[in-house]
Amino acid sequence: MKSGKWLDAAMFPAIPCNLERLYKHLHGKTILITGASSGIGKELALLLADADVHLVLTARREALLTDLQKEIAPKAAKVTVIPADLREDAGLEKVSAGLHALPEGLDVMVSNAGLSINRNIFQSLDRPHDFSRTMAINYFAPVRLLLSAIPLLEKNNGHILNVSTINALMTPMPDWAAYQASKAAFDTWLRSAAPELKQRGISISSVYLPLVRTPMIEPTRNYRNAPALTVNHAAGLIARTLYTQKRTVRPWWMLAAGAASVFVRHAPTSAQGGNAHGRD
Ligand SMILES: NC(=O)c1ccc[n+]([C@@H]2O[C@H](COP(=O)([O-])OP(=O)(O)OC[C@H]3O[C@@H](n4cnc5c(N)ncnc54)[C@H](OP(=O)(O)O)[C@@H]3O)[C@@H](O)[C@H]2O)c1
Repeated sequence: MKSGKWLDAAMFPAIPCNLERLYKHLHGKTILITGASSGIGKELALLLADADVHLVLTARREALLTDLQKEIAPKAAKVTVIPADLREDAGLEKVSAGLHALPEGLDVMVSNAGLSINRNIFQSLDRPHDFSRTMAINYFAPVRLLLSAIPLLEKNNGHILNVSTINALMTPMPDWAAYQASKAAFDTWLRSAAPELKQRGISISSVYLPLVRTPMIEPTRNYRNAPALTVNHAAGLIARTLYTQKRTVRPWWMLAAGAASVFVRHAPTSAQGGNAHGRD
């Protein structure tokens, strides 16, 4: 095994997802996955395709969503596609109307759509949209979708699963202000609301993922050889959390990484520029 593979195996030990238990737990349920056109959301939809579930898939790129719908069509899951830009009022209203039109209601919301930006603050001085766009999709979109979906989830004793990042638990890092603040904002919102939601029968899980090899991180040269989860591994962790309903899931080394982040914070930053992950 190459040294990189050893490191990956040590950092990201395989945690099996029991498909039988998963399918049994989800049987007959309706599951919204935001950001299903790519990366983790798409992989999760494919993992759930053999379950007797209704998948409601949303993202902006309609063609990718309909391709995914066709791929899943011969399998057990029923798929409804709602193409929408969740940064826009119209997109949020469209998804919300689609959810309220479901005769069976909603059982699970996987809040996964996201945008990551890695850019030095001095490169953002004339780019206020770096901050408004990340807040729009990583914070306001899930908050607004949930404000609409909470009554549906309450009726079905539903489950909210937030696809978060280890960055939300670490000392804030230079070059990551836009991403980290927006992901931490929704993480805090959800943690704050969790006891209120629990009293009404809605459970919450936050899956704090490390680096995952998806299109989101492709623009970042530094990440090409960095240890990262495969997208299948990440989707498996999320799927597993759908039946364990663990409140939080994080890598075993999170405590040490949190402590180390205090020192890394003072390392030289990318004053030369940075990378906008995603396509915005
Ligand atoms: N990759 C990592 O290293 C990593 C690590 C920790 C956490 N995460 C989190 O994992 C989640 C998924 O990321 P990924 O790595 O799978 O990235 P990805 O492949 O870039 O997928 C992002 C998804 O979000 C959707 N999306 C983005 N902007 C949207 C908008 N305005 N309206 C509707 N949908 C939108 C995209 O669809 P369209 O472009 O078609 O709209 C796409 O389906 C994110 O929340 C991210 O923060 C990722």
